[in-house]
Amino acid sequence: MSVDHKVRDLGLAESGRHQIRLAEHEMPGLMSLREEYGDAQPLAGARIAGSLHMTVQTAVLIETLVALGAQVRWASCNIYSTQDEAAAAVVVGKGTPEDPQGVPVFAWKGETLEEYWDCTEQILTWPGGEFANMILDDGGDATMLVHKGKDWETAGQVPPTTEDDSEEFGVFKALVRRTMQDDPQKWTKVAAEIKGVTEETTTGVHRLYQLAEAGELLFPAINVNDSVTKSKFDNKYGCRHSLIDGLNRATDVLIGGKVAIVCGYGDVGKGCAESLRGQGARVIVTEIDPICALQAAMDGYQVAKLESVVDQADIVVTSTGCFNVVTAEQMQKMKNKAILANIGHFDNELDMAGLARVKGVTKTEIKPQVHEWTFEDGDSIIILSEGRLMNLGNATGHPSFVMSNSFSNQTIAQVELFGKDAEYYDEDGKPTVTTLPKHLDEKVAELHLEALDAELTELTKEQAEYLGVDVAGPYKPEHYRY
Ligand code: NAI
Repeated sequence: MSVDHKVRDLGLAESGRHQIRLAEHEMPGLMSLREEYGDAQPLAGARIAGSLHMTVQTAVLIETLVALGAQVRWASCNIYSTQDEAAAAVVVGKGTPEDPQGVPVFAWKGETLEEYWDCTEQILTWPGGEFANMILDDGGDATMLVHKGKDWETAGQVPPTTEDDSEEFGVFKALVRRTMQDDPQKWTKVAAEIKGVTEETTTGVHRLYQLAEAGELLFPAINVNDSVTKSKFDNKYGCRHSLIDGLNRATDVLIGGKVAIVCGYGDVGKGCAESLRGQGARVIVTEIDPICALQAAMDGYQVAKLESVVDQADIVVTSTGCFNVVTAEQMQKMKNKAILANIGHFDNELDMAGLARVKGVTKTEIKPQVHEWTFEDGDSIIILSEGRLMNLGNATGHPSFVMSNSFSNQTIAQVELFGKDAEYYDEDGKPTVTTLPKHLDEKVAELHLEALDAELTELTKEQAEYLGVDVAGPYKPEHYRY
């Protein structure tokens, strides 16, 4: 039987398969996990609902999970981030476009919000009346659907939509209302099935800790983002690569000599600032945290409030995970033809709704995911990916090698949680949010060092004793910050 799917065009599968094949070569972590765990099939019985950008690299992750025994259904966690050829190749698998035999994927570049939430519902709903029993999330949307859905089912209704709701939240509520009409217990049943979630990104992890603190988390979670080999690599070096890839593909403007503002100097901001400086831009950083602000200053960047410098910038990038970081008023103060882009997880870093309400503003599509917004005085700014994360909307996200680190952590976390979910509750029986142990983090790094022909120095027994560590690691205490 052909697999269930909704993608742009299965005819793109061959091109996707070539790209996946090349990506496999650059993803040594995932490939060695296939070798290590392939025979043991630790994910046999797992029904994984994956909500993560459907890119070529994600295709290698999906096929790794399948190689370890899992059944998988996949959607993207962003309406613009799917690479249609990768989605097609995953669906076709070992079959043909006429008879696809791969993995069910529900994702295409340029979904509407309604389609986005429908796809998210599809991954949690298994054929034959079954549901997913694991979530692999990026940003927490699939997890939110199960939590809010169950809450609202228990209350017997979805709260009414108000003027304060974003467009997206209104669409989300409409989806839950529909599912409650079809089955008033659907999300309660899904919640009971889910053994746990592994979460990819900073923003999703924030949501999980908030749920756990409020005592509302329904199942245990592994925070993949805060594996050192994830956030200190993907967020930083990944964005260092893909920020300017997105800028170049979208606008091809020369970055050298320009003034660029990076809002937020966390892991993502550090990578963005470095890549803009590498291209010869003069970079200004904005921060709310004195520690990160001081780091930016010591790294040689000017640190300023956005309102003091927004009129000087040729490029403004947000990377905060916060909301309303650039207001509609500030957008009107930007230079004529300045570029405004967000690389943080959600589009609310830029006040796009406020911009649309500015009197007399008009929007012109230059090409998909590149729009010129012209104000009444004739000046305009260029906004990438409608304010959604631009490295995936305007380019193809991070390159394979760095994603191999992130996704090796994801794979190990899925194996860990699926096999030992009972161990991830506290003594009061409450589900926890935890990071992977350090020896696994070190293992992920080691797998990638080999591929770079890097030589790692080995401690002697005496040196290890002197440092108070084991010769085989872990080499750092938990509080070490890298
Ligand atoms: P982080 O927490 O390390 O850094 C965010 C920084 O922004 C913090 O230092 C914080 O103090 C600062 N900040 C918060 N509000 C601010 C404001 N109003 N003005 C100026 N600075 C402010 O988080 P990280 O890991 O850098 O992630 C940032 C965002 O990027 C998150 O939404 C995350 O999910 C997303 N992300 C996106 C990726 C991509 O490929 N596009 C990859 C990895 C993460």
